[in-house]
Formats: sequence, structure tokens, C-alpha cells
Amino acid sequence: MTAGTGANSGPELFVELDRSTRRPLRAQLEDGLREAVRSGRLAAHARLPATRALASDLGVSRRLVVDAYAQLLAEGYLVARRGAGTYVAEAAGAASVPAAEPAARSPSFDFFPGYPDLASFPRVPWLRAMREVLSVAPNLSLGYPDPRGAIELRRALAGHLRRVRGVVVDPQTIVVCSGAAQGLVLLARALQAPHIAMEDPGLPPHRAILAAHGARLSPLAVDAQGACVGELASIEARLGGVDAVFVTPAHQSPIGVALAPGRRAELLEWAGVAGGLVIEDDYDAEYRYDRAPLAALQGLAPDRVIYMGTVSKTLAPALRLGWLVLPPRLLEAVVEQKLLADHGCPTLDQLALARLLESGAYDRHLRQARRRYRARRDALLSAVERHLPDARVTGLAAGLHAIVQLASPVDGLALLRAAHRRSVGVYLLGYAYMQPRAVHEGLVLGYASLPESSIEEGISRLALALAECPPPPGCGQAARAGRTEHPAPVGRSPTNEEGAIAR
Ligand SMILES: Cc1ncc(COP(=O)(O)O)c(C=O)c1O
Repeated sequence: MTAGTGANSGPELFVELDRSTRRPLRAQLEDGLREAVRSGRLAAHARLPATRALASDLGVSRRLVVDAYAQLLAEGYLVARRGAGTYVAEAAGAASVPAAEPAARSPSFDFFPGYPDLASFPRVPWLRAMREVLSVAPNLSLGYPDPRGAIELRRALAGHLRRVRGVVVDPQTIVVCSGAAQGLVLLARALQAPHIAMEDPGLPPHRAILAAHGARLSPLAVDAQGACVGELASIEARLGGVDAVFVTPAHQSPIGVALAPGRRAELLEWAGVAGGLVIEDDYDAEYRYDRAPLAALQGLAPDRVIYMGTVSKTLAPALRLGWLVLPPRLLEAVVEQKLLADHGCPTLDQLALARLLESGAYDRHLRQARRRYRARRDALLSAVERHLPDARVTGLAAGLHAIVQLASPVDGLALLRAAHRRSVGVYLLGYAYMQPRAVHEGLVLGYASLPESSIEEGISRLALALAECPPPPGCGQAARAGRTEHPAPVGRSPTNEEGAIAR
């Protein structure tokens, strides 16, 4: 039974009374309250329900509740504040709540590649949008959402994606989902255990999500021109027909090259001939610093390409808002999966995002973000040049992270530990591969959430950490001299301007 009706009745509280036993109800209530305090369900300083409300909800007399409270007051579990109700005593609550796990301290100079600058989330525009939405949204918009997404957001997204990314899109072909992550869940289920060729390296959680929902994954190598589309034929010959190819054409995650024009054409040709699908994760397309990005692949073959986008890199991952633009034939199956998954995304957040898009606040935010991240990337390049003069920064002038190729291989784990001791968080490129692979020289360094001065300090500390790191296990001096096995470096390529080192 829960108590808590009425304006001043205090919080709800679950207390079980068993009327089939001979134990008096008052004693049962006292036991229940003691247990709630001891277990931490009622924490120190928590307010108890008003006696009248609790009595009414438990179906007992108010006197009985008053007496039970009095007993616990006497025992020191509760304290009464004149005219303000009854509360859990400090000592009682503190003793009963298990000590919280000490939070793991995050490094002061964290080059985590997965975040935009969370400190510059557009709080004021978002608040304004949310206030506007709440003041005009009809009551019906508080009911169960449309599983495809709020039509206001789908319209705003369609306009935005057409204008900015050249996507061929109708609001009716969009499904709003909880980030790209859920987009993958819906696709894996709707395509019914598809065989997907995935760029390798890629994002390990994406692979885990697809595999957990029945997809069979084959690695598709990546070189300076992006996904090696020519390998599809041999994958199909060895492992059976490929249903879909997952790519990040605007800025390969994590290598940082763009899919070269020839490869784009080759991929669409494969899709046309084999009747396959392309899943285009339009990752980082918003952040190109040296020139305009190529338009989305989807615009060239909207019936073959599934386009995927998210606000996780433009606003914040916490919003959990993303979208799929689907070939019409897939729409029904994906919407059905969305309905089965969760009935649809939270409407108010969708409406706020629609407002942000329509008012121009989203574009303004992105323009500022681009300036900020470009300066941070420049700071990273200068810091690497200064403190790690033999290392190379590879990949395009784009996105929120860069790959730093060290001059010689190091023991990755030793490096992570040495960096951590100096309060620096760094990430190993080797972890992004599907097959365990010795990539001892590559680091993935995110720069978006670190101010320039922290980038400089973080890289100088990283250089100190590197100086004390041994070569990887099994690598001798020869390896130190640069003779280890590692994937072909992604860098300057005479045939691919997109893949050139952008320094
Ligand atoms: C390649 C790639 N695509 C998409 C995303 C965004 O995922 P989500 O929208 O689920 O946050 C990420 C996040 O790190 C990513 O690395």
C-alpha cells in the first residue's frame, strides 16, 4: 500500500500490513517503518507521509499511525519538526544507508573521443524551446507518442537534412529513435538476422548491439580511401551473401578518412547489383573544418541507403535522440520494431528539438561548435608537434577526435596506466578492431571537450608517460625501430585527397 495523496501529505511510502496474522497492526507498521529506514529506502532527512495520509492509504486509524511515529521518535529513528512534519533522523539514516561506492576519479585531461563539449550544450535555447513547447502543446501530445516520431520533428528534420546533407527525404520515411544505437537495434530486428559487412575498425558498442539483436557481422577493412568495398565480393564468396554494408562515409569512425568518390560509386553499384542495403552512419558530417563535406550517400540511392543521424555529437548524448531515413519498403517493419521496443521516443524532447531546428538555434549552435572544435583540433596538432615531434596526426580536418600515430610501438596497457597516473585519459586504436590486432602505435584522442590550455597540458603529460613506457610484450629493439606488424598507416595517398594527412 502506498500513501501520499493530498497537497501536504508528504512523499509516498510503501508499507505492507498483513491482516491475516495475529501481530498487531501498530507493531507491523513500526516494523515496516524501521525496515524502511534501516534499508535506506527512507534516507536521512527524508520526510515521512503525513499521519492522516498514511492512515487513509493503509486503512487504519490516524491514532495508530501517530502512535507508531511516536515510538520511532522515541527510539531515535525519526525527528519531528514543529509544524513541518516528521523526518528520518540524521544518524538513523546515515547508519542505515550503505556507504556509496567511491566514484572512480575521471582524469583531469580526458581525451575521450565520444563527447562533444558538454559544457557548451545550448541550455538557454533548449530551455526556451521546452518552455514554448509546454505552453502550447495540446493535452493529447502528452499521450502515447507516434512510434515514427512526432510529426513536427520529422518535418523539421526532413527540411534540415535536405538542406544541409542533400538527403532525399520525406517526413513519412523518417523514424525517430533513441540515438543511433537504437537505430541499429531496429534495423537488426527488422532485417531479421541480417549478414552485415562492417567497417573494421569501427565502434565496438555498435558491433555489440547489432550482434545482440541477431546480426551476423563480417569485418570490412578500411584504408586511406575508406571502406575497402572491393573486398565485398570475397566476403560474399567465403561467408555468403551480404545483406547490408555499414559505413561512416563522411568521417570514418575512428580512422578519420572520408569514403573516396570511387569507393562511393563502387558501393552503390554493389547495392544495385546485389540488391543489398547500405547503412550510412552520417557520423561527424557536421564537423568538417577545411571544406564542405561531401553530400550524404543516401541522396544518390535513397531506395538502397538507410541514413542514420543523431544529436549525440551536436547537442548531447543524454538526449538519446536519433533518426533513420528509410527506403519506403523497410518503413513498416522498422516502425513495428520501434513500437515493440518502446512505443516511441519522448514527445516533449522531440518537440523541443523541432523548435531548435526551426528557429535556427540548432544551426547557430553548430556554427559556434565548429569554430570551437576547429581551434581545439589546431591546439592538438600544435601540442603533438611540440611534445611528440616524431608522432603523426592522421585523418581529415574534421570531427571531434584525431588519430595520433606514435613513432614506435608501446605496450598499450602500460601507456594507459602511465597516462592515468598523470591524470590523462587516452584511448587505443587497437581496441576498435573486430579481430584482436596489434596496433601499438595508434591513439584515438578526442579534443572536443578540452579547452586549448588543457590540450597542451594533457599532451605534454602524455609525452612524459610515453617516455617511461616499454615496447609491447614480444617486441624487441627491432620493433622499437619500426619493424612490427601493423596495419597500413592511414595517411597521405596520392590518389585520395580526402585521405591525406590534414596537418
Ligand atoms: C560512429 C558513431 N556513430 C554514431 C554515434 C552516436 O551514437 P548514439 O546516437 O547512439 O549516441 C557514435 C557515438 O559515439 C559513434 O561513434
